[in-house]
Amino acid sequence: MATHKLLLLPGDGIGPEVMAQVKRVVAWLDQEGLASFAVEEDLVGGCAYDAHGAAISEAAMAKAKAADAILLGAVGGPKWANVPYEARPEAGLLRLRKDLALFANLRPALCYPALADASSLKREMVEGLDILIVRELTGGVYFGEPKTILDLGNGQKRAIDTQVYDTYEIDRIARVAFDLARTRRNKVTSSEKHNVMRSGVLWKEVVTAVHAQDYGDVELEHQLADSLAMQLVRWPKQFDVIVTDNLFGDILSDIAAMLTGSLGMLPSASLGAVDAQTGRRAALYEPVHGSAPDIAGRGIANPIAMIGSLAMALRYSFGMGAVADRIEAAIAGVLAAGKRTSDIRTAGASVIGTEEMGSAILSELGKVDA
Ligand code: NAD
Ligand code: IPM
Ligand code: MN
Repeated sequence: MATHKLLLLPGDGIGPEVMAQVKRVVAWLDQEGLASFAVEEDLVGGCAYDAHGAAISEAAMAKAKAADAILLGAVGGPKWANVPYEARPEAGLLRLRKDLALFANLRPALCYPALADASSLKREMVEGLDILIVRELTGGVYFGEPKTILDLGNGQKRAIDTQVYDTYEIDRIARVAFDLARTRRNKVTSSEKHNVMRSGVLWKEVVTAVHAQDYGDVELEHQLADSLAMQLVRWPKQFDVIVTDNLFGDILSDIAAMLTGSLGMLPSASLGAVDAQTGRRAALYEPVHGSAPDIAGRGIANPIAMIGSLAMALRYSFGMGAVADRIEAAIAGVLAAGKRTSDIRTAGASVIGTEEMGSAILSELGKVDA
């Protein structure tokens, strides 16, 4: 059996707490002979700043580049509110995304049957929900230059962030969305604000051209991003794949998370291009949520988004889709048995902590057939 190089970057806040549960699942996969991993671990975020004065060290970057897949917990927290901007915890995550060219961020929002009453929307709005947000991750206003604060010298400052998209960046993310739609319900909704942004005009133009050229069999619609946010809470089941830019994708995926019951439910995969020579593809997997400083250290964080991110790694990096299905079935089983962490609305359910949720998923894994 091939040995996969896995780099764990637990990070800050609840990151290490939820990563601890992933370590147990990784150990179980090894034990069962389902996979063989060479696991390394390093620092990212505020903990890396405390240790090295930077949000990620060069040594950790080198490990990230050598890994077959990276699993990241979360970064950030109030402790680092006053560190220099370049060294803030989030800069470590952004550097990983940019330097590894992880342009395609897949954020599936799936409402597990047992959680149809846990959303802030009515059951009929979310029951059976299965949306995939495809977020462009290495461009847009996150990385565009100039990005600075100027001192205007008259007691005023000017803050500048720049939204930049080139044709090739929109073209490649559109193709990812169309390809994935073909494996699902064959519909793509592309979202931007072409009514106020030049980048939105180009986005719509390029997505339309890629569709006409190579994906005529897939249904394509365009929705302005503000209206799409409204539609997500009005009637979310109209969507299959949503493709959008870096900032809109960030915001829309937090909205989509609540449709599933909790932000603690949403995993993600950040993928690079497949290397034509080696067939390798850089990949980082992380929950959509952050370091949750308000609950960190209390052992109550929901580990499902993190464990779901491991399942995505198995599916997208290691060709182990069946094992990924098995992990997701175990999560569904535990939820169906009425077990919940406290972030999920709990009427009639039993509230358990992070480690107990990990144990429940592991014991359910033992029960689910291979
Ligand atoms: P957050 O996602 O950390 O938390 C938002 C709310 O959701 C909080 O009330 C939190 O308790 C809850 N929550 C999130 N994940 C949960 C889980 N697994 N289980 C139970 N409850 C959960 O967002 P925030 O508070 O706006 O940001 C906190 C820090 O995290 C900031 O520094 C931010 O930059 C960072 N952040 C990091 C990432 C990442 O590392 N990928 C993502 C988002 C935010
Ligand atoms: C996310 C986070 C990050 C983002 C932050 C922590 C840089 O919110 O992954 O959703 O804005 O992309
Ligand atoms: Mn976010």
